[in-house]
Amino acid sequence: MDKIQIIGGRKLEGKVTISGAKNAALPLIASAILVDGTCEFHNVPHLMDIESIKRLLEDLGATCSLDEHVMTVDGSGIHKIEAEYDLVRKMRASILVLGPLVARFGHAKVSMPGGCAIGARPVNMHLSGLEALGADIHIDHGYIEARADKLTGSEIYFDNPTVTGTENLMMAAVLATGQTVLRNAAREPEIICLADALNEMGARISGAGSPIITIDGVDKLLPATVTVIPDRIETGTFMVAAAATQGDVCILGGNPEHIGGVSSKLKAAGARIDTQPGEIRVRGGETVQSVDIQTLPYPGFPTDMQAQFMALMSTARGSSMIHESIFENRFIHANELMRMGADISLPKVNLAVVRGVPELQAAPVMASDLRASASLVIAGLMAKGTTVISRVYHMDRGYEAMEDKFSALGANIRRIK
Ligand code: EPZ
Repeated sequence: MDKIQIIGGRKLEGKVTISGAKNAALPLIASAILVDGTCEFHNVPHLMDIESIKRLLEDLGATCSLDEHVMTVDGSGIHKIEAEYDLVRKMRASILVLGPLVARFGHAKVSMPGGCAIGARPVNMHLSGLEALGADIHIDHGYIEARADKLTGSEIYFDNPTVTGTENLMMAAVLATGQTVLRNAAREPEIICLADALNEMGARISGAGSPIITIDGVDKLLPATVTVIPDRIETGTFMVAAAATQGDVCILGGNPEHIGGVSSKLKAAGARIDTQPGEIRVRGGETVQSVDIQTLPYPGFPTDMQAQFMALMSTARGSSMIHESIFENRFIHANELMRMGADISLPKVNLAVVRGVPELQAAPVMASDLRASASLVIAGLMAKGTTVISRVYHMDRGYEAMEDKFSALGANIRRIK
């Protein structure tokens, strides 16, 4: 297994270009199941998770190609409606094939996605939404089986906003008879990106980005060419890294509006942020002030930025309260940061108190999940000395050429095969 070695203590300086968003590309690629023809997706990042969903669609019978950052998916050859455990267990977002398969073929068998490091990750809202659209759902031997001759539009109310739940049911509803209204829907930019893509294919969706999304079913969707939005979490990760190293970094290709929750907290922590079209410049303050954060559904502070921000807070002035209100076990990185000298206590399962220390100490650490790996990279950049991060396959799932991008900003970082 690869490791990442970082010799920290250097300021990040220069320009970095943001890749396409993993969490936009995955539902977009799944939506190609709905189309009897070839869709083309631009700005697709080269990530392990993209490879996983490509392999899953090919297993179903689709023909996929990924060249540079353009993926084509021909869904006309899909002849299988079963997403196998071996493929689904590698990536929970495989659940996103459930809605499109039921919508187009009236039948789907998808392995129950297991939990992951950060939480149980149930899919009950996905399933109850499909039942509301008229699907029969059975779970046996670890598989979800959904059947429906024809889905029928309905009102669906989410107990709490769910990103992939909103995406799955939006895709299921586009070919249903009649109108579907999703209430308390997720508002993430990735939802808007998917709705725009489906409308490009001939769907009739309105309200994406608001808590109420209306979908009027149509008979079929047609091939389209769509572009993946930039990755707001990669953007936020580089913004935090710039602030954490008192650096001066220009982030190109990101959308400042998509990362406002992080920008406001970074400014409160003393960073200087200047934006102009297509460019976000982040200059780290000489000292970092502690600020409190609570993770919330978009447009609140994103849970996918919590681990990175905790690294920044570990050498800030004062104490920072970090309230993780989305997932029940998303502080695993705290223990690794403590190995580097951070002073963190976890008084409650979803509350961390980070007391700033003068500096972190380089150490061997282990990544536990995708965003924890980013947190440890930032901590390694902050700490003087050599930090070695193991299990970096977590990072490869969601960050394209991470070490190349950081070394282009002046970091002393390399991959150890
Ligand atoms: C998406 O996961 C993202 N993944 C996650 O990013 C992200 O952390 C999360 O949204 C929250 O923003 C993709 O988009 C592929 P949810 P998702 O459904 O859709 C509970 C990363 O690092 N819930 O919005 O699975 C759930 O347990 C990943 O890129 C139910 O109880 O998250 C959680 O507490 C990590 N029942 C909350 O809702 C359900 O049926 C929000 O989860 C569905 C969700």
